[in-house]
Amino acid sequence: MKRYTYIIIAALSVLLCACSDDGNTVPAVVTAETTAASSAAAETTAGEVVIMVGGENNGAIETSVKETTIPAAEEIAPPETTQATEETTSDTTAETKPKVTEVTYIDGILIANKTYALPEDYNPGVNQTAKRAFDEMQAAASREGLNIYISSGFRSYEYQAGLYNRYVQNHGKAEADRFSARPGHSEHQTGLAFDLNTIDDSFAATAEGKWVAEHCHEYGFIIRYPEGKEHITGYLYEPWHIRYLGVDTATKVYNSGKTLEEYLGITSEYDE
Ligand code: DAL
Ligand code: ZN
Repeated sequence: MKRYTYIIIAALSVLLCACSDDGNTVPAVVTAETTAASSAAAETTAGEVVIMVGGENNGAIETSVKETTIPAAEEIAPPETTQATEETTSDTTAETKPKVTEVTYIDGILIANKTYALPEDYNPGVNQTAKRAFDEMQAAASREGLNIYISSGFRSYEYQAGLYNRYVQNHGKAEADRFSARPGHSEHQTGLAFDLNTIDDSFAATAEGKWVAEHCHEYGFIIRYPEGKEHITGYLYEPWHIRYLGVDTATKVYNSGKTLEEYLGITSEYDE
């Protein structure tokens, strides 16, 4: 019964997405997964419903899709009151804060975390080098009989604002800040981060999750928010969130056993 509910939600979401004018390009190749496994994947920790873009169609994302997460029905049209950027942080400092105009590279690595924000108009789409690396990794996993796919890739500032605001509404700001980046602070806006498969802690215990943790550095990725490092990265464990750094750097970070913040000696903290 639950499964059919998901299928209906997924089908409705696809329909709504196709009609939306929220700036999210919807590819003709989007498919709503309807298997038992992916139905389970459709509900995330935060109660978000996600529709997966089929693995075999990922090539199409490169040319036609900027947002690789298809928003659930309630994400397509966030409440009016949460649309405006100023309201995103729902505080008075937002007005006085200087606008971020440049991206930050540290040791040649583009950084987006709680300390370092991206400009609002930084809108690069999916990084094609990262996407090719993912495709290679996906093919390697497939040879092992494993299915890894991108559930959420590039997210614009505006899209992240909608997501974050909804989480704040549903969970409160303090809790939302533990698992969702404020707009301008998400690695997804760099086009270099991908959420894989089930956006849920359960991913870590799957064969795919274990394989990704062990091998993703070989393709240039790191698990960006490791377990027990919230006080350093600023976020709860996200076994599904990988960040592209290139094979050399990702391998160095992996072998160091450090988070990216520790590796670079930087912080991840909001001003307030
Ligand atoms: N969930 C990660 C932290 C993000 O929102 O970018
Ligand atoms: Zn992510």
